[in-house]
Amino acid sequence: MVGRPHLVIAVDGPAASGKGTLARRLAAYYGLSYLDTGSLYRATGLAVAAAGAAPDDEAAAVKAAQTLDPSRYSEDQLRSPGAGEAASQVAAIPAVRSALLEFQRGFATTPPGAVLDGRDIGTIVCPDADAKLFVTAQPETRAQRRHLEHAGRGDALSYEDVLADIRRRDERDSGRAVAPLKPAQDAILLDTTELGIEAAFQTALDLVESDLNERGQSA
Ligand code: DC
Repeated sequence: MVGRPHLVIAVDGPAASGKGTLARRLAAYYGLSYLDTGSLYRATGLAVAAAGAAPDDEAAAVKAAQTLDPSRYSEDQLRSPGAGEAASQVAAIPAVRSALLEFQRGFATTPPGAVLDGRDIGTIVCPDADAKLFVTAQPETRAQRRHLEHAGRGDALSYEDVLADIRRRDERDSGRAVAPLKPAQDAILLDTTELGIEAAFQTALDLVESDLNERGQSA
């Protein structure tokens, strides 16, 4: 762990790019809090389903986001394929995004600082972040990773289904009108297609360190 003043690190990217693992490890390294913002959208999608509504039911989705208690759901529920798809749908509703914004910004500004991962952290949630990474990987590689992850949890989904789900979510998350998935202008790109976890983390750390140095946050 390396001590620094309050730091905010934004880690964005598409599904299964490796951003969650990298963000969690960066948080541990710098002694910062960690927020998986996708879990907020996943919990909102699950809450809408629990209320018996469809994920594109705007009124139900906004109500779910405004009264959200992510701790109601287990990790397995949050990581299920259905939750990911529902999350991507509720996330396209602007009022859902606004309802979740304040919590995310509050989290980032609370000491000791935080690493947040998502789709719009560097662009909307924390545009003044001290370092910004945009993590990508080829869709086929991401589908292989997600397929393994689901298999480990006992979700019987074929690789082809996972790849189709990833492509559909990429398209929806990148094409929506509000806060689409895209790198911030000042984000550093990291392609993890050819990298294992350890190599990806070392590369991410080098990139974040150089970003912090450039922005005057060096230790
Ligand atoms: O990162 P994830 O796969 O858990 O995210 C699930 C969905 O939530 C994703 O398809 C889009 C949405 N999302 C978002 O729109 N903005 C974020 N900051 C995080 C997730």
